Amino acid sequence: MDFIDFCLFFPTLIFLRLWWRYWSRNASHRKNLPPSPPGWPLVGNLIQVILQRRHFIFLIRDLHKKYGPIFTMQMGQRTMIIITDSKLIHEALVQRGPEFASRPPDSPIRLVFSMGKCAINSAEYGPLWRTLRRNFVTELISPMRVKQCSWIRKWAMENHMKRIKTESVENGFVEVMSNCRLTICSILICLCFGAKISEERIKHIESILKEVMLITSPKLPDFLPIFTPLFRRQVKEAKELRKRQLQCLVPLIRNRRNFVEKGENNNGEMVSPIGAAYIDSLFKLEPATRQLGEEEYVTLCSEVISAGTDTSATTVEWALLHLVMNQEIQEKLYKEIVECVGKGGEIKEEDIEKMPYLDAVVKETLRRHPPGHFLLSHAAIKDTELGGYKIPAEAYVEFYTAWVTENPDLWSDPGEFRPERFLHGDGVGVDITGTRAVKMVPFGAGRRICPAWSLGMLHINLLLARMVQAFKWVPVPDSPPDPTETYAFTVVMKNPLKALILPRVK
Ligand code: HEM
Repeated sequence: MDFIDFCLFFPTLIFLRLWWRYWSRNASHRKNLPPSPPGWPLVGNLIQVILQRRHFIFLIRDLHKKYGPIFTMQMGQRTMIIITDSKLIHEALVQRGPEFASRPPDSPIRLVFSMGKCAINSAEYGPLWRTLRRNFVTELISPMRVKQCSWIRKWAMENHMKRIKTESVENGFVEVMSNCRLTICSILICLCFGAKISEERIKHIESILKEVMLITSPKLPDFLPIFTPLFRRQVKEAKELRKRQLQCLVPLIRNRRNFVEKGENNNGEMVSPIGAAYIDSLFKLEPATRQLGEEEYVTLCSEVISAGTDTSATTVEWALLHLVMNQEIQEKLYKEIVECVGKGGEIKEEDIEKMPYLDAVVKETLRRHPPGHFLLSHAAIKDTELGGYKIPAEAYVEFYTAWVTENPDLWSDPGEFRPERFLHGDGVGVDITGTRAVKMVPFGAGRRICPAWSLGMLHINLLLARMVQAFKWVPVPDSPPDPTETYAFTVVMKNPLKALILPRVK
């Protein structure tokens, strides 16, 4: 503790005292919140969570058994309402969608990176969010744009196949996650900036965005703002990281602008025709409430790359784990691919729709291993009620959707990996967008549903189909895959999957 910290200590104590009085006086106001585990004065359940020394998602897995379909966690000053029941999730997200479609406030560190909530994922439910999301949908994932950009995926998939072959020759095995991340990241960078860049630069962007995710994950002052002064160093680090993020991405934006406005392409990296890159649409976008500049462009493009990389790569890794551990499923999938395009035939994007078993494998992976166990935090647009309890507008409304796919009342043998359930079983006809009912919602549901869910599915399906068509995936002898989970923004394998690849006989 330095001298300035010491000087802040005394006012902090006074503030604590005043705050405690305010908190006690307002206790009645909080009545009729959903039930909550008993907490401590001021800090609520925060200390219990910290003492658990495991990630929040694993703690909630236990707590929901005791506290039921809807409960409260008082995390310092932050009131979190956890919703685990499929009917309540459907009611909040779909039936009463607009009421629960907002986002809670961002922490000071998150505000540095979101440019004051100027990103689709963090914007409050309102005109800015609507403009940004509509632009994203028409410019990045409309069927016309997806078709127009299929060459980007073809190029990235070819690089992917070459890279894993080389890695297998050099190391004797392939590490799945790192390769899939790199490939998906290269696709998203090209979709955003219309540029093909070197693998070194892709890795650099990837690592900076990973650092951003780390630094923006919740810290003590997010729950107890009185500690903010003691975290000045983190705020300084965040600002420095933001500078590095800008240094890394602004040159791409400027090169693209020169290409769009003057036709300049000095280093030849601009490959998408004018109008086909996401950033081209942002140059023209004029939301009524906000002017967009380079900093906002960096935020909006980073959001796409971050949101689309780990989620899809995690899913491919879990799917391959099951294919490695269960050769019967892998052979069934291989047979379907061969019947559809032949042993050495090119897998085109339109072929994916003709592969029901592949679809079943991917859906079963998303059911059994949803990349996020929670959706992003939601907020009600005004004080309301749900399940007979009060939901204050300032509360963080957290949908624990992992429970929906672990629930034995909704799925038979939910812990088993059985793609067949989607062909003739309890998965037939399941609506993964949750519009009709919530039985699995890996992309959320309603107003804030992942706008790129179909693009994510395409990346996962293509990668899996290409990898299984070319190689038989088997465990590394003496080092069987370990399905232990851990949390790293998505729920990933604690020990990343390594596998041997045996070229298929053509
Ligand atoms: C397997 C792949 C993916 C999964 C599982 C996934 C999952 C999700 C989830 C759970 C949400 C939060 C929904 C909510 O808060 O209610 C979300 C939001 C979002 N996702 Fe995805 N996603 C995937 C791929 C992608 C891709 C490829 C992109 C971009 C190209 C993307 C962009 C976004 C954006 C911009 C939002 C914020 C939407 C909003 O707040 O209105 N996602 N995604």
